[in-house]
Amino acid sequence: MTRLTRQQKTSLVVGDSYWTTAAVPGIPSITMSDGPHGLRYQPNHGDNLGLGGSEPATCYPPAVGLASSWNRSLIERVAQAIGEEAVEQGVNLVLGPGVNIKRSPLCGRNFEYISEDPFVSGELGAAWVRGVQSRGVGASLKHFAANNQETARMTVSAEVDDRTLREIYLPAFERIVKREKPETVMCSYNRINGVAAAENHWLLTDLLRDEWGFEGVVLSDWGAVDGAVAALAAGLDLEMPGPQKDSRSALLAALDSGDLDEDVLDLSVERMRRLVRRLRSGTVGVDALPVSDSSPHLDVVERHGLAREAAAESIVLLRNEGSVLPLTPGSSVAVIGEFARTPRFQGAGSSQVTPTRVDAALPAFEEIADVTFAPGYRLDEHVDQQLLHEAVDAARSADAAVLFVGLPPMEESEGFDRDHLNLPADQIALIKAVAAVNPRTVVVLTNGGVVTLEPWHDSVASIVEAWLLGQAGGPAVADVVFGVVAPSGRLTESIPFRLQDTPSYLNFPGENNVVRYGEGVFVGYRYYETVDVPVRYPFGHGLGYTTFEFSDLVASGSSASVRVTNTGSRSGSHVVQLYVGPAASPVSRPVRELRGFEKVMLEPGASMVVTFELDDRAFAYWDTLTDGWLVHGGSYAIEIGHNAHDIALTATVHKRGPAPRKLTLESSVTDLLEHPVTGPVLSFAMRRAGGADELGANVFDMVATVPIRRLMRFPGVGEQMRMLPLLLAVANNPVIRTIAGWFRR
Ligand code: BGC
Repeated sequence: MTRLTRQQKTSLVVGDSYWTTAAVPGIPSITMSDGPHGLRYQPNHGDNLGLGGSEPATCYPPAVGLASSWNRSLIERVAQAIGEEAVEQGVNLVLGPGVNIKRSPLCGRNFEYISEDPFVSGELGAAWVRGVQSRGVGASLKHFAANNQETARMTVSAEVDDRTLREIYLPAFERIVKREKPETVMCSYNRINGVAAAENHWLLTDLLRDEWGFEGVVLSDWGAVDGAVAALAAGLDLEMPGPQKDSRSALLAALDSGDLDEDVLDLSVERMRRLVRRLRSGTVGVDALPVSDSSPHLDVVERHGLAREAAAESIVLLRNEGSVLPLTPGSSVAVIGEFARTPRFQGAGSSQVTPTRVDAALPAFEEIADVTFAPGYRLDEHVDQQLLHEAVDAARSADAAVLFVGLPPMEESEGFDRDHLNLPADQIALIKAVAAVNPRTVVVLTNGGVVTLEPWHDSVASIVEAWLLGQAGGPAVADVVFGVVAPSGRLTESIPFRLQDTPSYLNFPGENNVVRYGEGVFVGYRYYETVDVPVRYPFGHGLGYTTFEFSDLVASGSSASVRVTNTGSRSGSHVVQLYVGPAASPVSRPVRELRGFEKVMLEPGASMVVTFELDDRAFAYWDTLTDGWLVHGGSYAIEIGHNAHDIALTATVHKRGPAPRKLTLESSVTDLLEHPVTGPVLSFAMRRAGGADELGANVFDMVATVPIRRLMRFPGVGEQMRMLPLLLAVANNPVIRTIAGWFRR
């Protein structure tokens, strides 16, 4: 192996250009490109705001759409195709997937993220990594971590308690790192509890490498590094973009002064050497399990076809009163809305792809129905009454009106957040006017972040949530509207009635460069379901053109199975969702959390049994007293739902808890009362001391949280409890603790 000079080593850990690393003797350069819903390869220039254009590549639905498919194998196929395009364009590393949690619907970059739920984010993000890496191309899991807003994203400190980090903001990263071994992880711009992600030793080394076993390279988000020396020492291997002469000089100076140990640099150099070797030899992903299949490579036309298939499966049918959908081919349809002619198919910023072609909905509708088109509104939000009148006229005489509305491009993007959830006022006026003349009005929504459906929701027959669907989204909408494809998307985020109902409402996007995650683990449906706040459409919701029923739920503490039957008259797909409701525990927990899902396709009348494995994590919470996962003993509900609110079947399973904690004089009265050894004795003693029975309950409540040592200081009490040290010694005996654990429920 060639020995490198300090100069060469430092040049290897700082990018060489916008998208490449430096070549040094024995270690060639590698090339990167954004993802995640297609390639944004810029061979001769670079920018990270999506301004400068890029080589044409297939533009698949952004994550907001693709994730709504809840289809792991579809996502894996899309990612394989992206990997193939990367190989063709000479790209070694694709910068995705983005698995940050949608903490607030206002986050300007929600279109790039998967879900408000960490389990879905982890499962679907894993499928993406598996797909890309199966083609010998590396993935870059981003943005690590707690990057849940765009406001002040480079400076804001996300103040998140340990339990919330572990249960909500980290599990998607953890699952993907452990299972799929992404070649790289990209650290985020923000600070976490005061420390910049790029300089966060706990995050990049203690957690990511030592605890989760990550062996790849950590690279910075573009421009996330302030101090190159501190970043390297924290576990960051590669600062991007380059060249950063200052960073290289700072590293060299720190080596000279002894502020930076050369071993630390050597470690990152070795990781870079390994990464480059793997990326250039195509051995990426081979040690990830399961290794993906070798399905055939696609050409440009087939990729467009895959983009259309993916788009159709991304669509979520929210409402379909009177089964207005599917429309009959050949019927007269008023197609209204500029978006039908000028589609908005992806979000703005670094993920923008230059598509190989773009198919709008209007020509696809014209092929299949007798169409009258009216633009209805202008995309620059300039109100035009004339356009509204023409649209109403078109709607009046048609069998059905299909109205394309949504967020104009300037309303959401990487780099800033929204401050409301509304559609433009002129579009709302248009919906109401069209619905007033045509009872068979279908609204098709184009939006990257959730919009409120109030106050027009009840006035229209059907609502099709078409998100941002990539380059083939137009015909995909026609496929669903005319029933060529049955809608099968499900929401990966709740649609609230009002912004004020959202759990982060009072704490988003923070102030003075600090954002407090005050809602804790109660994010999305975890909040709505626990606090009983109604939403317009719950997490997991989505209709099809047929109906499904569940039966025969059988559950244990480690698995569950349920039968799902297509009870309607058309074939269709359903997402079977498994939630776990917690046992009573010492910490407050969401009433249910998603712990499994399977998408199944069934012919009318057909049924199948779906099985889920449930490991201990499905029942656990993060215990801050022991800094570990804890399954509290007790009864858990295993729930099978159509969505997070509509639970069809419930079974109860029992889990054994761990051995009780060691008791000390600092333990509380409750700790002692709950312990199987000390509990009966103390309770007997307290009843006796409390005298009359009728006072008993109150006394227990009044002293419940008092530490024993304090209690014993009260006159007379210490006397009565003089046997306590002996009792504690018995209770803390290891054999007795283990046996006691078996009896704890
Ligand atoms: C984004 C990253 C992206 C990078 C390179 C940054 O602004 O946050 O997601 O990969 O630019 O374009």
